[in-house]
Parts: sequence; C-alpha cells; structure tokens
Amino acid sequence: MPFKTIIEPFRIKSVEPIYMSTIEERMDYLKEAHYNPFLLRSHQVIIDLLTDSGTSAMSSEQWAGIMRGDESYAGASSWERLEHEIHDLTGCPYILPTHQGRAAERILYGHLGGKGKVFISNTHFDTTRANIEFSGAEAIDIPCHQAKDNESDFPFKGNMDIGALEQLILTHGAANIGAVILTVTNNSGGGQPVSMENATEVCAVCLKYRILFVLDCCRIAENSYYIKHFEKGYEHYTYREIAQQMFAMADACVMSAKKDALANMGGFLALRNEPLAAACTNLLIITEGFVTYGGLTGRDMEALAIGLREVFDPGYLNYRIKSTAYLGNHLKEMGVPVIYPIGGHAVYVNAGEFYKHIPAHKYPGQSLACSLFVLGGIRTVEIGSVMFGKYDDQGKLIPATKELVRLAIPRRVYTQSHIDYVIEVFGLIVAEKEKAKGMRITKEPPFLRHFTAHFEMLE
Ligand SMILES: Cc1ncc(COP(=O)(O)O)c(C=O)c1O
Repeated sequence: MPFKTIIEPFRIKSVEPIYMSTIEERMDYLKEAHYNPFLLRSHQVIIDLLTDSGTSAMSSEQWAGIMRGDESYAGASSWERLEHEIHDLTGCPYILPTHQGRAAERILYGHLGGKGKVFISNTHFDTTRANIEFSGAEAIDIPCHQAKDNESDFPFKGNMDIGALEQLILTHGAANIGAVILTVTNNSGGGQPVSMENATEVCAVCLKYRILFVLDCCRIAENSYYIKHFEKGYEHYTYREIAQQMFAMADACVMSAKKDALANMGGFLALRNEPLAAACTNLLIITEGFVTYGGLTGRDMEALAIGLREVFDPGYLNYRIKSTAYLGNHLKEMGVPVIYPIGGHAVYVNAGEFYKHIPAHKYPGQSLACSLFVLGGIRTVEIGSVMFGKYDDQGKLIPATKELVRLAIPRRVYTQSHIDYVIEVFGLIVAEKEKAKGMRITKEPPFLRHFTAHFEMLE
C-alpha cells in the first residue's frame, strides 16, 4: 500500500474505559505498590505495557467460539478442534494442553532436569530458567555475538551461538544436556527473531549429539514475519508455512498460548517421542488435569484454536510488526537508546545506557519503569539486574548482562494515538533524565523476585 499510516486492521466493537489519573495520584499509587509496577492495580494504569502475555483483544470469531465451548470433562469437541490445529501446525503427534506456558515448562523440565543436568538456550525466559533451576539443573544462555552490539542492524539477533553450543556440549558431555531450547522470538534477549538457518544449525548439532531440541514457540508467528521478509529464500512461503518448517525440526515445543494464539489464557506441550509423551502425560494428569483439557476450559480451547489461525493473517502480522517498530523508531530518533532492530512484540530501552549515572546495583531499569509510571501512567517491566541479578557468596550483586526496560505491546489493544501518547511521555523522560534516582531492594523472595520484591527510592 502506498500509505505510511499503519491503520489497525480491525474495527472496535467493545471498549474498556481508562481512568485518567493525575501525577500526584500516581506517586501515591507507586508508593503503596512499594515501587514495583507488578504490585499496582490495573485501574491505576493508563497505558499498560507490562506484558503482551494474555493481554490480547480477542476477535468476534473468538468470542463466538467462546459460546461454542464444549465443557465436557473428557473428549470435548473443543479439545478435538484445538488438538487438530496444534497438530497441523507443529506436526507433533502428542499434544498436552496446559493452563499456561510455565505449566508446560514445569512438566517437561521437571521430568528432564535434576541435579547434574544442563540446559542450553539462546536465552532462557525467566520462568524457563526458574523451572530448570528449581529442578536442580543448570540453565546456560548463549546468544549470538551480534546480540551484544546494540547498534548493529543484523536482523536475527535472537540466534544462538552455534560454536558455543558445540563447545558446551563437549565440556559437559552430551548425556548431561537435558535439552537445547531455542526461544523464538528471543524475549529476554530483546524480542529479537531467530533465522531458519540458525534453527537448522541448532537442529543439526542436536541430531549429531542426540540431544532433545525444544522450541519455545510462543511468538513463532512474529518470528515467521522476519524470516519471510529478511531471510533469503522464504519470500514465497506463507507465514504459516515458515512456522511449520521450523516446527518440523523440533523434538518438542513448549508454547505459552497467551501470546501468538491471541488468547487470554492457555499453553501446550507438543512432543514427537512416545515415551517422553507418556511420562509428561502422567505429570499433566497429576498437576493440570485430564489429557483432553489440561488446565483449560472448553471455551479457552475454542479461542486458542481460532487465534492460532488468525495470528498468521498477513494484514495482522504486517500491522503488528510495523506498529511496534513505529514506537521503537520514534524513541530512537529522540535519543532514547533502544535495542535495535526493534523486535516484534516489544520495544526494549537500554536503561543502563540511558541512566548512565545509576549503576547496575542501584537498578536503573527499575528507576526508569517508576518514572514512566509517575510521569505518564505507563506500566512497563525491568528486564535487568532486578529480574536476572544474582548474589555471590558475600551477598554482592552479580548484575545481569543488560539493564533493560521492556515496553510490551498487547495485541490488537492500543491504537496509534495511545502509542503517540507514550512517545510524548518519553519526551518528558528525556528532559528529566538527570533527575532520575537509583533504587534499593527492601524485600525479596528467593525465586522470580521481580514479581513481588519491594523497593525504595534512594536520595
Ligand atoms: C519466551 C517465553 N517462554 C515462556 C513464557 C511463560 O509463559 P506463561 O507466562 O504463559 O507461563 C513466556 C511468558 O512471557 C515467554 O515469553
């Protein structure tokens, strides 16, 4: 199309009001939430960019599917529809429905993990790492070297470092590798896509050493967009065909269906290996539910089956990727350091570089997330040393490799004027940059501390 305005490829049928709070109110809200945006109430937020997970607006078709949901305990027709859809997409014979992605992770990594096992990924998502570590195993990230260069416009910065993969396998011994996990797109690595070439190389290494190759596929449709447009040889395939090609290489797929299935809840585990499927099914029944619903209702399964089709619509994917890039490119032009190129589901601001005066142990990302909320009512999440920092034996922080703030864009929820407002708020953030203060953690749980930790602002 010859027009540069990215129009939303849908009409709005139902609206949800937003309460327009004042700065003073937001300062109180944040204090009550112990300076942790996860502890805010949703009505206190004007634009919620905390996550793209489970926050999609469903289509009229999905709502119609909700009414059709078959709530039978066993053998529901809604399950048959979902199973057929996942089978068609992944090619895997064994499909296990779960209530969300981490339930599938707990089942798979709980079974494969344990002390002495090592898992290798382009970057483990936080719940993936937590489930692996909780089993007693070790999780190692090996993003490709281009991922370290924030300025490079290499289109597949989500790739895994293949040299490092072989090296790690030789160091730890193939028998001790629980699985190699390719996260597409690479959420914690900046939402960057993974090329088909890289997936093919990962698959070849896994075949060579007989290691299980797992695809963490919750944004596979968005990943397919990049392959079609930026990787030679894929121009003539549909987005769905590209996804199917990638799925065909994996032994197992873990999906949080709260992302690219355009639904508010759901997940699944898709497996090729019968004994592995049998072991995981036992765990599914103990912790999630019977095999034909897992942790889901019939209506959830209908919405998922429809969403998994809709997400590959070319008009939708074009709008999705281009509207996220619209926000990221505007921030970049304003001098806000962002991870570049802009990923599909979110814009990642490099808070460590933006707030150079705040060192990692004073959590620059958390500070930026707090400023965005106070100045504009925008909720975001820190992806840095709050989320991934560890302590050494002396209790000193071992910082994360990057101090990022993620602005995740819910699917089909906000319009261009909402995004223009976010850009305007960033104008204020840039103007007041030097005034930003560091933070201190006052209370934290042992796992996934970013969800519930309490903070205070340093003077
Ligand atoms: C890459 C990735 N894997 C796994 C998960 C976990 O999924 P869930 O939140 O549905 O448990 C997420 C959630 O954001 C994710 O982004």
